[in-house]
Amino acid sequence: MDLKLKIWRQKNAAAKGKIVDYDISEVSSDMSFLEMLDVLNKELTEKGDEPVSFDHDCREGICGSCSLQINGRPHGPDGGITTCQLHMRKFKNGDSIVIEPFRAKAFPIVKDLIIDRSAFDRVQHAGAFISVNTSGNTQDANATPINKGNADHAFDAASCIGCGACVAACKNASAMLFVAAKVSQYALLPQGQVEREMRVTNMVSQMDEEGFGACTNTGACEAECPKGISITNIARMNREFIGSNLKS
Ligand code: SF4
Ligand code: FES
Repeated sequence: MDLKLKIWRQKNAAAKGKIVDYDISEVSSDMSFLEMLDVLNKELTEKGDEPVSFDHDCREGICGSCSLQINGRPHGPDGGITTCQLHMRKFKNGDSIVIEPFRAKAFPIVKDLIIDRSAFDRVQHAGAFISVNTSGNTQDANATPINKGNADHAFDAASCIGCGACVAACKNASAMLFVAAKVSQYALLPQGQVEREMRVTNMVSQMDEEGFGACTNTGACEAECPKGISITNIARMNREFIGSNLKS
């Protein structure tokens, strides 16, 4: 199929960016979205033009690095998948596709479609860890019985891949879904109890410091999350936060 691509090009963080038009032809419907961009970049390179910079690593929905805004939607038109899992069969001959980086103050653009998501790393460093005895007598993880419901909810929360689609989908660029997933995965498990209060206080404070917006409960984050992280995690994080403040 033949497509018109409208891609955000920006030389570096300080430069002014703009949408640039590209025509691409003979795109196979079996190609992944990133393979289609690989073909475009091959053509650009052969012509001596600068290829389009975009982030990717695993190309199988695990690492969360391939975040693109495609026709106004984080990770494109399909639900429950990342950009690297999107296939060109979702588009038809003659379509125009607008490809932009995720937009948020806390995710500055590095180049073209690549954004800096280190704000998420700093939020994690603020509290997303547990104290484990590593002195040689470490207990087997399965030795601690865990309620099935809690284990399932913790596992679901832990499936967050840190892609940032929740932030890109939110009109306030809020990171509440991401932070709530990280807080929940520990709050529900016995192993997460030692740092429980410190964790939620420090992570929320770091989230605010990074410049993410407030949550106004629109649910856009949950709708666009490729891993189906539920906004019930946000309610849990709010309860954790209030509980922590009452104890301090
Ligand atoms: S909550 Fe969902 S959308 Fe947000 S970072 Fe995690 S996986 Fe991505
Ligand atoms: S490249 Fe890893 S999730 Fe897409």
